[in-house]
Amino acid sequence: MKQFISAQDAPNINALVSKALDYKANPFKDKTLGVNKRIGLLFFNPSMRTRLSTQIAAQNLGMECIVFNVGSEGWNLEFDDDAMMNGLTVEHIKDAAPILGNYFDILCIRTFPSLKDRSEDYSEKYINQLIKYSGIPVVSLESATLHPLQSLTDIATIKETFLEKRKPRIVLSWAPHIKPLPQCVANSFSQWVTQWGEADFIIAHPEGYDLDPMYTQGATIINNHETALQNADYVYVKNWSSYTDYGKIKSYDNDWMITKEKLHRAKDAKIMHCLPVRRNLELGGDVLDSKNSLTTLQGTNRIYAAQAVLSEILQPSI
Ligand code: CP
Repeated sequence: MKQFISAQDAPNINALVSKALDYKANPFKDKTLGVNKRIGLLFFNPSMRTRLSTQIAAQNLGMECIVFNVGSEGWNLEFDDDAMMNGLTVEHIKDAAPILGNYFDILCIRTFPSLKDRSEDYSEKYINQLIKYSGIPVVSLESATLHPLQSLTDIATIKETFLEKRKPRIVLSWAPHIKPLPQCVANSFSQWVTQWGEADFIIAHPEGYDLDPMYTQGATIINNHETALQNADYVYVKNWSSYTDYGKIKSYDNDWMITKEKLHRAKDAKIMHCLPVRRNLELGGDVLDSKNSLTTLQGTNRIYAAQAVLSEILQPSI
């Protein structure tokens, strides 16, 4: 594996999930694989789970890990190739990235979208420029459009908990929010579940929240929440802002919040959310506190998904 920025970098999802779950059973089995190797985590935006789980994953493999909060501590970087830098940016990624490439064996980067310019966000300029100019493997810690480590974790969590000999019915359920949020987690979950191909996959959202069709091919899209939730085995709750009316909030409809009452047609459904979550806005506290909530398991499994990916970059086996 030369990079990990999308499901397309994981041609065998089941093998990668198995690898993650093997690491969960025995986290230190490859504790010398990364000895004398160094990983850099570059954060342009905040994080708790991604930052800590990736650090732990790297340490479990024996790697040295350095975190750099570029967004708050670094020089303001320019990413446009032909920019005349007479504004706020003081250093070009062309000049900085080759040095980072010499400092590290693997680079990881988190960059959120602006939610102002769709074509710029969806061009993934930041991560692609880092790949182009660093010359070493790059792992996405969530980019403008995708969050692959989260999605690998989510499929691993579903595989770990679904014990029946049939396909699970998985519903990605849009949730209300007071702020416009990226489409990354929803795009990415859709991309991974459809590529995985071992689930009946439904995306439920109000009118105006269609995701980029590039990620939803193979999913059933339903605008009626009650219909979508019926007999769900998993309900993945997430807000995203509009893709078509880019970055806008089209609805504050509280009826789309998942509560215990809302789940009367899917009483045993397992509830997922990548976190952080706004309680009683996106997702009812009654549901988050119930035994069916998988959010702690998801957060825990972030370590082993990251460990599987770093291991594949250090020594491919899949
Ligand atoms: N789910 C997730 O990416 O969490 P953080 O933003 O805390 O990293």
